[in-house]
Amino acid sequence: MNLLKIGIAGIGNIGTVHARSIYNGEIKGMELCALCDTDEKRRRTLASEFPNVKIFSSSEEMIRSKTIDAIIISTPHYFHPIIAKDAFENGLHVLSEKPIGVYTADMDALFDAWKKSKKTFCVMFNQRTNKLFKEAKRIVSEGELGEIKRSVWIITNWYRTQSYYDSGDWRATWKGEGGGVLLNQCPHNLDLWQWICGMPKSIYAICKVAHGHNIEVEDDATIYAEYENGASGVFITSTCDYAGTNRLEITGTKGRLVLEKGRLTLTKLSCDDREFCTGEKEEPSISETVVYDEDYNGHKNILQNFANSILYGEELIAPANEAINELLISNMAYLSSWKNEKITSQFDKEEYRSMLAEKIKNSAFSKKETEKAFSESEYLSRWKTKW
Ligand SMILES: NC(=O)c1ccc[n+]([C@@H]2O[C@H](COP(=O)([O-])OP(=O)(O)OC[C@H]3O[C@@H](n4cnc5c(N)ncnc54)[C@H](O)[C@@H]3O)[C@@H](O)[C@H]2O)c1
Repeated sequence: MNLLKIGIAGIGNIGTVHARSIYNGEIKGMELCALCDTDEKRRRTLASEFPNVKIFSSSEEMIRSKTIDAIIISTPHYFHPIIAKDAFENGLHVLSEKPIGVYTADMDALFDAWKKSKKTFCVMFNQRTNKLFKEAKRIVSEGELGEIKRSVWIITNWYRTQSYYDSGDWRATWKGEGGGVLLNQCPHNLDLWQWICGMPKSIYAICKVAHGHNIEVEDDATIYAEYENGASGVFITSTCDYAGTNRLEITGTKGRLVLEKGRLTLTKLSCDDREFCTGEKEEPSISETVVYDEDYNGHKNILQNFANSILYGEELIAPANEAINELLISNMAYLSSWKNEKITSQFDKEEYRSMLAEKIKNSAFSKKETEKAFSESEYLSRWKTKW
């Protein structure tokens, strides 16, 4: 096989972007064969924009149509694991939009179906293909910073207007989305944080609900994380700050790296600071190198990697077994905030599911949906790293 037949479920903002990339032949080895959306108005416009592509009204129908080898899932989050599981049970490869799901309790069943299918499963973590994050990952994993002591990420440039939240009935509600800035905007950053610095053993978090918007979920959050080696991490995010900040700083025993304003600055010590501290060595000298950002198109990079992995065995950039980690972190953060206590990585996943179900059941929030108030170019510009 050298051509993958692709179907996409959920053709809204991001699904349309993926559909256009494939339809226009920008992804080698992919052919757009089917699209599905539950919204009838949406399906009518798809039929005129993508002639010769089969249009379905449900993912179940598209999955069983025998017209595709692989599915891209770009529906609202709750449907991601449901559609992925169905696709594996029917012999398809899966590329899911982030997050992989809303809660981790049902991941075992999904991963079992994936393992049984022997198909490819990856998640759209497009920022993993950004040069600066790849370089940060290399520096930390090759030990250039020594042992990590601390990481601090202030990522408050996810600013959103009220009209953004009003632009879809599912957005920013417990029932439709299952969370706020941590579950919608931050999966990219939480994934990169754990990709570069590893998984924390415990988390304490404060999630501020409706801090700057009329919504039901959090739009501002602060996470304090502790790691097995005694390191600590702080992650601060918000959709309320204009202008916001995007600054990641990681300090180790042999140096520090800072990512901000399109630059990675690596400050290296000539020896491990603990050797200086104990008097074994002289005061270390300091050297500094700077790496600059480059233009990149992360979505197309991940699509191409997905195709290359299935067709030619290329290693996946964001395999599903890693993609679940950021969801574990956000679930721990919500649970910590709801219970006002520190949560360990061994947290009770069923308790999380039932507390979320209670929030949905007790919701008194009513949503006034408006037509989308932002342009496509505005929407596209969100995926830039936006230093
Ligand atoms: N990787 C990224 O950079 C990125 C960017 C934007 C959105 N996303 C993710 O993509 C997903 C969709 O976001 P969006 O902004 O495109 O939303 P959207 O509301 O614009 O589009 C969702 C579409 O899915 C359709 N839909 C809903 N339920 C469906 C179902 N069960 N089966 C088929 N179609 C269904 C809706 O009718 C709608 O057209 C979210 O999970 C979001 O987190 C990722």
